[in-house]
Amino acid sequence: MAATDTIGVGFIGAGDISILHAKAVRKLPGAKLVGLWNRSQDRAKQRAGEFGCQNYATPEALVADPNIHAVLVLTNLESHLEYTKLALNAGKHVLVEKPVGVSVAEIEEMKKLADAKKLVCMPGHNYIYEAGMNRSKELIVDGDLGKLVSAYAMYNIHHPEEVASRYPGVVRQILTHNSYILLYLMGKPKRLCAMKACLHYKEYKEEDIAMVQLEMENGALAHLCASFAADDHAADPWTVMVKVIGTAGSTRYSYRDHVEIKPGLVHSQTYTAYAGSIMNEVKYFVENCIGRGQAPLSTMADAITAQKMIEACGKSIREGCVVTL
Ligand SMILES: NC(=O)c1ccc[n+]([C@@H]2O[C@H](COP(=O)([O-])OP(=O)(O)OC[C@H]3O[C@@H](n4cnc5c(N)ncnc54)[C@H](O)[C@@H]3O)[C@@H](O)[C@H]2O)c1
Repeated sequence: MAATDTIGVGFIGAGDISILHAKAVRKLPGAKLVGLWNRSQDRAKQRAGEFGCQNYATPEALVADPNIHAVLVLTNLESHLEYTKLALNAGKHVLVEKPVGVSVAEIEEMKKLADAKKLVCMPGHNYIYEAGMNRSKELIVDGDLGKLVSAYAMYNIHHPEEVASRYPGVVRQILTHNSYILLYLMGKPKRLCAMKACLHYKEYKEEDIAMVQLEMENGALAHLCASFAADDHAADPWTVMVKVIGTAGSTRYSYRDHVEIKPGLVHSQTYTAYAGSIMNEVKYFVENCIGRGQAPLSTMADAITAQKMIEACGKSIREGCVVTL
């Protein structure tokens, strides 16, 4: 497909995150949201009306439409494999939300199928599609930060129990973000140890905070934090904060650089970078990956490594040990 053609997009799943993806597609001159399918028809009709697109009766009907060239898989984690395979087998490019799969084997299956079909299958690793992240990466690659010493990827955004209970605990739901960010900026870890706690839910049993210490292959140390337990209200808050420190310089990326005083989906305020990162990600998917045949900034191979890191965190938490990757 030539870079100048309009890419027809279909959504499988029309929950909260589809609102940001619809906004992203609307902003893209080279793409058009053709239609969506959602398991509950009430939600499907509502969203199709809001987005001004078709509502398909089944996911099979959506992927069979020749006007759709690319499918965004925006359902719950447990169904990503099923819908990614459905779309790839119908010859459509796929952007699949994170966490990409329930297990390493699931992500490997998606990657193998996409490779065999010569189609794009891009992980929804949105946080790295930000100018500040890309500049940090460039400084690191060019050696301008000197010898890398440490990295921090922090996430502290309160989520009420009814929202958190739609997701797995923060180890899978949020540490996946921290993991692919770390892979993008610092490369792979050698070993890690993790801890978690459940502090503010009444009924929901999964963890609302988790922290990880890592030793990287390049010798640096890293720290990751993922918390749904509380917002950070202090000066220069670690809402979402990514730092890389080297012997010759350091970099910082923060959600607090742009804040709108209105709720943003489930967030108490609107962190403009959140919607912005999804816009940039969808733009990269359409223009660079589909249009120019480039690899995503974080590939399915990276999604596999990120999932290995998540599974290592699980083992470390269960067994109270340091896990070598
Ligand atoms: N990249 C990010 O920053 C980010 C943020 C939030 C959510 N997400 C991811 O996006 C996906 C959706 O999250 P959301 O916040 O929109 O959740 P949501 O609960 O608002 O919506 C999920 C949708 O999936 C549908 N669904 C659930 N199980 C299904 C199944 N088995 N088959 C078909 N449909 C099913 C539901 O009907 C619902 O419409 C998840 O994978 C989540 O991890 C990513």
